[in-house]
Amino acid sequence: MDTLRSTYLDRIATAADGDALEQVRTAALGKKGEISGRMKELGRMTPEERQTTGAALNRLKDEIDAALRARKQGMEDAALDARLREEWLDVTLPGRPRGRESIHPVSQVTEEITAIFADMGFAVAEGPQVESDWYNFDALNIPPEHPARQEHDTFFMARADGDTRPPHVLRTHTSPVQVRAMETTGAPIRVICPGRVYRMDMDQTHTPMFHQVEGLAIGKDISMANLKWTLEEFCRAFFEVDDVELRFRASHFPFTEPSAEVDIRCSWEGGKLSIGQGDSWLEILGSGMVHPKVLRAGGIDPDTWQGFAFGMGIDRVAMLKYGIPDLRAFFESDLRWLRHYGFAAGDVPGVAGGLSR
Ligand code: PHE
Repeated sequence: MDTLRSTYLDRIATAADGDALEQVRTAALGKKGEISGRMKELGRMTPEERQTTGAALNRLKDEIDAALRARKQGMEDAALDARLREEWLDVTLPGRPRGRESIHPVSQVTEEITAIFADMGFAVAEGPQVESDWYNFDALNIPPEHPARQEHDTFFMARADGDTRPPHVLRTHTSPVQVRAMETTGAPIRVICPGRVYRMDMDQTHTPMFHQVEGLAIGKDISMANLKWTLEEFCRAFFEVDDVELRFRASHFPFTEPSAEVDIRCSWEGGKLSIGQGDSWLEILGSGMVHPKVLRAGGIDPDTWQGFAFGMGIDRVAMLKYGIPDLRAFFESDLRWLRHYGFAAGDVPGVAGGLSR
């Protein structure tokens, strides 16, 4: 029995691979294996002999079986270790272009806008997409009866049964980030807030989710003149034309006073849009001087501080700049569309190097 044990345990310990191990198993425990053979001999023994030998054989069988399993597990662990050592991947390495990948126009244009405003000293602030009723509406001086608060314009989040607090919303604009930024930074402040916004709308120029960028500058004597200069500089850089002409049209937003919608001079000659000259005007953004109530909601004293804000559709200016006709296609993840309108990966837009190369 001892010889049997040491022979097989030794063969198990030195088996080179899974196949060799399987051979040892067959030789010992297989139907015609040595231990199985011994088991068969039990029938010819006296009852006393059978009892002791049988029990010892069973123990030996279990012991060999356990050794086989342990060795097998050990081999598998070693194989996994070897694979992990061999197939490692440095995820911090920069990507290697393969020629087909591309940057989505929204990402590209967000980078372009960020680069231009960063150059003018604006930091980037972000806020949540699921926003409280307070930040999305009240803090922005939007009254309860305002149309934006209607069920058919805004996506309201569900509250648990019995919870009577006003529901959260999917933010309908990036303006709530203004208030959040004022709270965290205080005055003076100069930020842009790009991000996703949601409204219940769907046609060629509207999708239920789209992107806006908010701009906010607050100081002791910031005026509409600063707003105009900033936006002109921005448009010149963004549309990459030397001459731009903006038209400020009096308008109304609850969170700015006075408020203006801004149009840019353009032409549609030959069906092609060109920015900077021509006889047409195209609305590109909403803006104004931040309402004193909004400053106060953001914890800033309106008797000392004032400033401007604007909000612009990122997808909209992307469509204008790059001549993309249908907004819905932006979010359909069609690879052919992405390859056609996408931008080379790794080309980071910068004001100095040219924005859209
Ligand atoms: N929040 C406005 C909108 O979504 C845009 C805007 C922002 C207007 C800031 C004025 C000032 O339409």
